[in-house]
Amino acid sequence: MNFIDLRSDTVTVPTQNMRDAMYNASVGDDVYGDDPTMKELEEYAAYIAGMESSVFVPSGTFGNQLSLFTHCQRGSEVILSDDCHILMHEVGASSVIAGVQLRSVKSRNGEMNPQDILSKIREDDIHFPKTGLICIENAHSNGRVIPLSNMEQIHAIAKDKGVPIHLDGARLFNAASYLKVDPKEITKCCDSVMFCLSKGLCAPVGSMVCGSKEFIEKARKKRKLMGGGLRQGGFLAAAGLVALKEMIPNLEEDHKKALLLGEELAKIPGIKVNLDDIHINMVFFDMSKTNYDTYKLVDEFYKRGIKINPVEDGLMRFVTNFWVSYEGIHYVVNSMKDILN
Ligand SMILES: Cc1ncc(COP(=O)(O)O)c(C=O)c1O
Repeated sequence: MNFIDLRSDTVTVPTQNMRDAMYNASVGDDVYGDDPTMKELEEYAAYIAGMESSVFVPSGTFGNQLSLFTHCQRGSEVILSDDCHILMHEVGASSVIAGVQLRSVKSRNGEMNPQDILSKIREDDIHFPKTGLICIENAHSNGRVIPLSNMEQIHAIAKDKGVPIHLDGARLFNAASYLKVDPKEITKCCDSVMFCLSKGLCAPVGSMVCGSKEFIEKARKKRKLMGGGLRQGGFLAAAGLVALKEMIPNLEEDHKKALLLGEELAKIPGIKVNLDDIHINMVFFDMSKTNYDTYKLVDEFYKRGIKINPVEDGLMRFVTNFWVSYEGIHYVVNSMKDILN
């Protein structure tokens, strides 16, 4: 059965152009610096992010944690929002790999108040850890895009205090598409950025970490320490190049499909969708008023050829992607009506 998969955009499989590019890729041992396709990807990724240099990593989590590890000394402190991916969904890796302490700021729909950040930056005192880094997530995994003005204010504070900023831009291009800006407008507010090739952009594996030449040189060595030196990685880089060169314009369509899905679900009695929160390809909704068991819903959807996740923290999340068509969206909405009836 060809499933409609709404669990995440991480479920995307490579396009035919990616498969062809992987099949035909020129490769070499990238740890020796011999892989021409990997070199091409790293140059292109740095260019598109407006940074001097970049390095390929196996996953978004790897890229974020490598960035913390490269920016910070052990025992220093990282300021981030209390609902961000690095804090909530990366298995506590920052205490294991970088050996840093996380200091969270209350998230307001994913946004951090710049004054809250300022108040958390440590003064020089024998009792205090050093503030080593500030992390921002954009697009946020709550489906919203952080406004540029908020990032600019945080950037001004960070610059004044001499603290670098890392951007978890797993969905950087979704954010840029929503804001209708070049991704460089977003990345200019930070010192390093991680973005994923493997989510809405459909590459099978991989993320990029971009930053200054010096930062990436340091990161490359730490990537090796973390076991991330990939030998003939060019096969993956070939798909990554197609992702960056061909797939970014499709994200706007994914966002439109999510909005349509949200609008249609909102018409179903008992389902509450906050349409203002649909900035990218994610639809969060509350269906508690229907009294329908969401684990049962997962099974019922599955029988109809649709994969979804059950409720988390009181909310359901459906994520659109390149492989879900408009027809598929209508099928999902009709299936929901059918099941609830
Ligand atoms: C905002 C954000 N950052 C980082 C990651 C981690 O990416 P990966 O699953 O490739 O480790 C994700 C994954 O969904 C994410 O949503």
